[in-house]
Order: sequence, then C-alpha cells, then structure tokens
Amino acid sequence: MKTVFVLNGPNLNMLGKREPGIYGGKTLADIEADCMAAGTALGLAIDFRQSNHEGVLVDWIHEAGEKAAGIVLNAGAYTHTSIALQDALRAVAPLPVAEVHLSNIHAREPFRHKSMVAPVAVGMICGFGPLGYTLALQALAARL
Ligand code: DQA
Repeated sequence: MKTVFVLNGPNLNMLGKREPGIYGGKTLADIEADCMAAGTALGLAIDFRQSNHEGVLVDWIHEAGEKAAGIVLNAGAYTHTSIALQDALRAVAPLPVAEVHLSNIHAREPFRHKSMVAPVAVGMICGFGPLGYTLALQALAARL
C-alpha cells in the first residue's frame, strides 16, 4: 500500500481554539480522523504529522522522499516565507505535493497571497476548510 505523508506546519495544533471564525471549530485530531477515513477509502496509508518547527518539516519532507508516494502539505505561515521548505520539496522531486490551506489565502491579507510551496506543488486547494485535506488526498490518489 502506498503511503502519503500529511504534514502540518506551525499553529495548526491550535485548530479548534485558534481564530475559529477563519479556521472553523474542528481540531487537528478531527482532521487527522478525516484523513485516516479518506486513506482507507482510497487505499492509501496515511502518516499524519504536525510541527511548529521549520527544520522538523524539512526533515519530514526528506523522509517522505524515502518512504512516501506523495505529500499533502499545509505549511501554515511557513508557506509564505520558507525558501527552506521549497528547497526541500525540490530535493525530493518528482514526489507529488498537494498544497492545502483551510482558508482562502488569496482572499486574506496581501502577505498571504504568495506561496513558496505553490511553484513546486502539483496543485493547491484552499478555502474549503478541513474538506481540503480529503480533496487533496483524492487528487493525489488519482495521480498515483
Ligand atoms: C493556513 C493559512 C496561512 O496563511 C496561515 O499562516 C496558517 C493556516 C490555512 O490553512 O489557511 O497558519 O495555512
């Protein structure tokens, strides 16, 4: 069975409490459960992780290059700043990456409009809340 890493960046461990008007009421554990259910339906093993640390995310992307068939990545605020994450994703090419954001980053502050992940992702899903993770897994499964 193919494995997909679902990687979550900073502050996503605070979902449920964090700005619920923007991010909704679901916790990251709820989203993990959704991903596990989607993985079962799609025949994918899901390895779901979250870190607040950029270097840990870099390490996990490298690990995905060895162990995974694809990555779903919500890099949180590092999306907008991290050359290191873009370089890590380039280093594991052509491993397919689906970028996810709960909120519509293009409808928010201008500093959220730029994504360092987007140029190295197969595609991006944003604005559909937690459903975006399931949609991203479906998109990766279709590609794999
Ligand atoms: C986010 C959007 C980012 O701009 C923000 O920094 C986050 C969450 C989202 O899922 O909507 O932490 O990635």
